[in-house]
Amino acid sequence: MRDEVSVLFTEEQIARRVAELGGEITREFAGRKLSVLGLMKGSLVFMADLIRKIPLDLTVHLVRVTTQREQAAGRVLTEIAFSTPAQLEGKDVLLLEDIVDTGITLSYLLAHIHEHGPASLRVCALVDKPESRKIDVHPDWTAFPVHEPMADRFLVGYGLDWMERFRGLPFIGTIPRPRRAEGPLAVS
Ligand code: IMP
Ligand code: MG
Repeated sequence: MRDEVSVLFTEEQIARRVAELGGEITREFAGRKLSVLGLMKGSLVFMADLIRKIPLDLTVHLVRVTTQREQAAGRVLTEIAFSTPAQLEGKDVLLLEDIVDTGITLSYLLAHIHEHGPASLRVCALVDKPESRKIDVHPDWTAFPVHEPMADRFLVGYGLDWMERFRGLPFIGTIPRPRRAEGPLAVS
């Protein structure tokens, strides 16, 4: 399986960057109660590592978004579900995203979480592909910005999947961009 994937960010690079981000986030939220909200399933590995670098009184929640993209009709249907009955009202929320690509998922999620009335809402992404944006949203923290031509490759590993495969790889790698499936495409 590994020989299908070219390494982009090694385990060591990821560990170093996650520790840096943990330090920045800890300083930002010092003295406050932080609610970390991880987007399933892609941010699970990132979340597990990052929260252990944030020595604050934090809670952890998971959220799942299902995006059905009907390309022919240009229609985007998004379903959202909180896996824990997260009480986000008045909380300082840190949303963890795996990849911000077109920005559709993140902008939908931000609007939805705002309805819960958090005291603050910040975003930390594992990977940002800023040149692929269709909606103008920006994470507050990004572990790894990925620019063209690399952004054209499909990233896998460290929680990121292609068709549910490769999530367990300890590094982030690339595979040639898979052909888009015909009809509705589920991403999460
Ligand atoms: P967006 O709504 O286009 O920003 O897409 C976000 C979602 O698409 C992410 O949460 C990922 O699950 C998925 N995605 C986008 N690009 C990649 C990639 O290169 N590798 C794996 N998943 C990706
Ligand atoms: Mg995915």
